[in-house]
Amino acid sequence: MKIIDLRSDTVTLPSPEMRQAIAEAELGDDVFGDDPTVNRLEAMAAEIMGKEAALLTTSGTQSNLTAMLAHCQRGDEVIVGDEAHILHYEAGGAFALGGLGLRPVRNDDQGRLNLEDVRSAIRGRDIHFPPTGLICVENTHNRCGGSVLSEDDLAAVRDVGAEHSLPLHMDGARLFNAAVTLGVPASHLARYVDSVAFSLCKGLACPVGSVLCGTQDFVARARRFRKMLGGGMRQAGIIAAAGVYALAHMVDRLAEDHENAQVLAQGLSSIPGISLAPPPQSDLVFFTAEGWDLGELVHRLCQRGVLCLDEGGRIRMVTHYGIERHDVEEALVRIRELVATEA
Ligand SMILES: Cc1ncc(COP(=O)(O)O)c(C=O)c1O
Repeated sequence: MKIIDLRSDTVTLPSPEMRQAIAEAELGDDVFGDDPTVNRLEAMAAEIMGKEAALLTTSGTQSNLTAMLAHCQRGDEVIVGDEAHILHYEAGGAFALGGLGLRPVRNDDQGRLNLEDVRSAIRGRDIHFPPTGLICVENTHNRCGGSVLSEDDLAAVRDVGAEHSLPLHMDGARLFNAAVTLGVPASHLARYVDSVAFSLCKGLACPVGSVLCGTQDFVARARRFRKMLGGGMRQAGIIAAAGVYALAHMVDRLAEDHENAQVLAQGLSSIPGISLAPPPQSDLVFFTAEGWDLGELVHRLCQRGVLCLDEGGRIRMVTHYGIERHDVEEALVRIRELVATEA
């Protein structure tokens, strides 16, 4: 039985061409700035995002924490959505390692920050208050169903921050998915923010890595914090070569993942008892199943070779490189059989 792994777009394996690029990478010691492949990746990423500079990090989590540290002073507060990845899934690094408070404001179901809440969360100058140092947005938004922030959404939150000279960071782990959904270059989304982090190891199918982009000054500060967080890597061209390949060859194909997500969603919604929660906008598909304990459903699907995650009240399935249309169709057959038999 073929295993159809829909748990995450992080389960991808590098393609033969990507492995070839890794094998042939020119290398040097990146802590000395000597790795030509890392330098190439950083230059490419900066150009694609329309920023002055970029920094390869080990992970999205490291990029986000590095960005918060580089924008803020210890004791500052960072405004994040109440559904943000930074708040829920990054092990509290901002508090524990950064000495930063995270101030959650409401996310709507599209992943937008409630602008009135942002305004009232920004602290005044009173010495009793921790200073606000940064606002963070997430695009696409993981817990809001892979939803996409538009340019208008980003401009609106940027304008609120600008009233108080606050920088804006975008957790764009899946920014290329957002760009593909909107049909715009990623730089059109990045131009509203001071810094942006995107993942290499999600839809772009690299084995490891994330890239943080911003001004020269910001990236120079970030480089020090990345080192502090243990992210100073030596012959990191091994990682960067996959990134260079991915930026050239893996971005446009995300449209296939989105189409497969639509096929999966349509198929799921035709199964009695299953409801989309919400309909997908990118590669993430969330649903509920009436009458099922979702943990049990995930377990039973796993026994039938369909892997997915129970994300607290919803099941998540993600389409990605390595999942073809026929895999989605086969997964739907197995899900339908299970749910119909048990109905
Ligand atoms: C929106 C978002 N931001 C950040 C991350 C963290 O990335 P990493 O797992 O590389 O630390 C993830 C991971 O799934 C994510 O979905």
